[in-house]
Amino acid sequence: MDNKKINEDLVKFWDTALTISAEDKEEALKYTDLDYKELAPSVKLLNAVSELGQCENVLDYGCGTAWGAIVALKAGVKKVDAVDLGENIIDSAKFYAKLYNAEKGFNAFKVDENWLNEVKDDTYDGIICSNVLDVVTEDISLSIINNLSRVLKKGSLAVIGLNFYMSEEKAKARGIELVDGNKLFQNGVLRLLSLSDEEWSNIFSQYFNIIKLDHFAWEGEPVESRRLFILEKQ
Ligand SMILES: C[S@@+](CC[C@H](N)C(=O)[O-])C[C@H]1O[C@@H](n2cnc3c(N)ncnc32)[C@H](O)[C@@H]1O
Repeated sequence: MDNKKINEDLVKFWDTALTISAEDKEEALKYTDLDYKELAPSVKLLNAVSELGQCENVLDYGCGTAWGAIVALKAGVKKVDAVDLGENIIDSAKFYAKLYNAEKGFNAFKVDENWLNEVKDDTYDGIICSNVLDVVTEDISLSIINNLSRVLKKGSLAVIGLNFYMSEEKAKARGIELVDGNKLFQNGVLRLLSLSDEEWSNIFSQYFNIIKLDHFAWEGEPVESRRLFILEKQ
């Protein structure tokens, strides 16, 4: 399968997975005591994104349901562009922004895969990119990283969330096949581009100063093996 098809298929997957049905929307609207902090997949991510609170103009790239954009706005950011490739995803992002009363400064829109190439240099003073760079093919990931660095102002921060690393040996021991040694497919859909902390660090350090590499877990996970990078534009 070529990379174009792999990336198209994974966007279709996420656009379906992140759709909120009319019934679920109706149900969610019944809650009056929602706390936006619960949207973040972990407290470490919540805190990292909240650190962007002084920013004027933030990009949440591959926003999904836009937890990052919502947290950033609640932390004080003036304006956030929350972009993704799926129509339903953007509908969900807008729904969450409304649900959590974070519509002021919230600018969610569907983009195509070329959009980031067209954004002007130094447009943003903060970036959030959570669980995107390691769910796409490596060529796309590298192109996104290059562009994120280009559109971020010098000295500004990017908060990057990544899944865990699964080595080839570990995958084999679990009966999982990693294609080309680092790509995990589930039902034909790319779900993980598995690079080690060192490999990601080597890529990021071509464009950014690595301020922090931390590890976190989603609720219920016993080990903190997901990666949180805080990067500063060189
Ligand atoms: C695992 S979800 C993460 C969503 C959200 N950022 C979060 O942390 O919950 C991956 C997201 O990346 C988006 N995506 C996939 N390929 C992309 C690309 N080339 N450019 C931007 N977003 C992409 C998907 O549509 C999906 O919303």
